[in-house]
Amino acid sequence: MGDLHFSDTVSGNIADRVLVVTIDNPPVNATSLSVRSGLMAALDYAAAEDAVRGIVITGAGKTFIGGADIKEFGKPPEAPLLPDVYLRIEQFGKPVVAAVNGAALGGGCELTLACHGRVAASAASFGLPEVKLGIVPGAGGTQRLPRLVGFVAAVEMIGTGRSLKASEALGIGLIDRIAAEALVADASALVDAMAGGELRRTGALVAKTISDADIDAAGAKILAKARGQAAPVEALRLVKAAMTLPFADGLAEERRTFLRLRDSQEAAALRHVFFAERAAGKVERLEKVTPRDIRCVGVVGTGLMGSGIAVSALNAGYQVIGVEQSEEGAAKGHERIAGLLDKAVQTGRLDAAGREERLRRLTVVSDLNALRDADLVIEAVFDDFDVKTDLFRHLDDVVRTDAILATNTSYLDPDAIATATCHPERVVGLHFFSPANIMRLVEVVNCARTESEVLVTAMTFAKRLGKLAIVCGVTEGFIGNRVFSAYRREAELMVEDGALPHEIDQAMEAYGFPMGLFAVYDMAGLEIAWARRKRQAAKRDPNARYVDIADRLCEAGRFGQKSGRGWYAYPDGKRTVDPDVTALVVTERTRKGIKPRSLTADEIMTRLLRAMADEGQTLLSEGIAIRASDIDLVMINGYGFPAHKGGPMFAAGIAA
Ligand code: 3HC
Repeated sequence: MGDLHFSDTVSGNIADRVLVVTIDNPPVNATSLSVRSGLMAALDYAAAEDAVRGIVITGAGKTFIGGADIKEFGKPPEAPLLPDVYLRIEQFGKPVVAAVNGAALGGGCELTLACHGRVAASAASFGLPEVKLGIVPGAGGTQRLPRLVGFVAAVEMIGTGRSLKASEALGIGLIDRIAAEALVADASALVDAMAGGELRRTGALVAKTISDADIDAAGAKILAKARGQAAPVEALRLVKAAMTLPFADGLAEERRTFLRLRDSQEAAALRHVFFAERAAGKVERLEKVTPRDIRCVGVVGTGLMGSGIAVSALNAGYQVIGVEQSEEGAAKGHERIAGLLDKAVQTGRLDAAGREERLRRLTVVSDLNALRDADLVIEAVFDDFDVKTDLFRHLDDVVRTDAILATNTSYLDPDAIATATCHPERVVGLHFFSPANIMRLVEVVNCARTESEVLVTAMTFAKRLGKLAIVCGVTEGFIGNRVFSAYRREAELMVEDGALPHEIDQAMEAYGFPMGLFAVYDMAGLEIAWARRKRQAAKRDPNARYVDIADRLCEAGRFGQKSGRGWYAYPDGKRTVDPDVTALVVTERTRKGIKPRSLTADEIMTRLLRAMADEGQTLLSEGIAIRASDIDLVMINGYGFPAHKGGPMFAAGIAA
């Protein structure tokens, strides 16, 4: 803390006639009440002290300011309000420069916009992620940013919530410079340079006008992704308003919109998701367990799933050893992994040097003994019990005693796989979703005998891959596929009861799913599930209601999109409602003596959501899921449940 105490979280010290104000409000320097009042006190002080030529504002720790305090959102706002603090900074008679040491997000980014100058450390980043919380920036961001960087860059940032690195921020004119080394000294030098001159007040700048076509093109990109969410649409409207409304009117309109959205159900849902994600990584009773060090990761099986896992591990900086059954298989596996990296280069997510560096950390061989030094081995071989247990028995002999063995099975019992080894305590499940290098979700399966340290290491590893790791107990299909099976069953029952597949899909899409269930089936192909149903037919309860329609489709050779027909027809590749499917559905209803009744979109969603939440409750009562919000995250990140609805448990009022 500095010598001057402005509040519990804001302090200052004077160096060369510049007041350096430091915000120290862990964990992320959010602009809570004490920060706002501390900043006001610092401004009072600087205004009164003739010896002070100007102010530098910086953050303690690795974050500059992580935004407004989201925990305060449910409470009535208390003065001084953020927009008023920032307006005062902007109108201040002496120069105020932000020395941005780390992430400047939301209200943090808005603070920098209100300053007269912005200097950033090279590790700093800038973002207005409010739309991800169902709100719009509420402290001037929508009015100041377009005045500073132009409409297109502002709409892209505010409408998507994407963060920019310091170098990108410099590129669009968001900051004045990147500090070579001493950030605060550099910012103080800028204060000196500005002192006595005309200050550049962002609110007084005029946002450059651009053509309607350019406005529409930039806006269309945002609207295409909004899928029923209010915040991106409002963000676009406000940024447009910055080009026509006087600054004060724009600010007032922004504030009204911010307050209205902040109290919306959409914002409550997205706040729930935000805190759910922070809670997900925490496993009570394991918080003090230290993870093992992982450097070298083995991936057995480099098919679709294994190659995606390998790419994820390479991206996270690990040494990766892929293993295949033959030399030829190894060569193909290497090619597949390199191909995924090539795609990343083509789409600009990776540069050529990054690709080369990753490939240097990769070997793909046909000999399991190569895994001798691996710290963690993930199997991604064919989902067959004998294949997997044989492999684990072999691995048990090959790997070090402290190495961890992870199975990526989707439906087999990982406890049974673990039992096949001499050390079941080192076996854990890592259930990735396909494509594993893209999908964020990983279910970390805590098997009956998994050691705490092994579980914590698996969680830490998944997080280092940039994944959202959710702990799950052993059950067929884990959390996601259990909930999925439950609502899939409900959907099929509804088809018999009176809703047509496309009506169910339309209801789901209107609710916010990117795609309806039956369209997803067709995309994935129907034959694997058909084979499984045939295998399980003997075990089925003959008294339980069973819907045969999917079987009838498969018997008719309708295996989904790739065979040109499934739940829909695909003339010229375009998904189309097929009268043959409707006729088949009607025949099945008649055969079973069901008198159909049409269902509204609301009724359809009510039944689907209830099926999901009921299954979620069962998972909680069985101890398979630790918390309701974990179930929400699984459905949002693995199954397309719209985040702005908060997940099935939140929607049912089960997860607060
Ligand atoms: N308010 C309150 N708490 C916050 C917070 C915020 N804005 N941002 C983070 N936290 C809390 C987290 O809940 C977590 O708490 P916990 O330890 O009790 O679980 C803790 O800070 C650490 O967060 P992370 O685990 O996410 O830490 P990281 O170091 O990985 O990431 C971060 C730091 C990049 C700042 C990340 O936390 C983040 O993205 N935060 C949210 C940013 C955001 O959305 N800001 C906009 C807020 S809305 C706003 O500013 C409105 C304005 O326009 C008026």
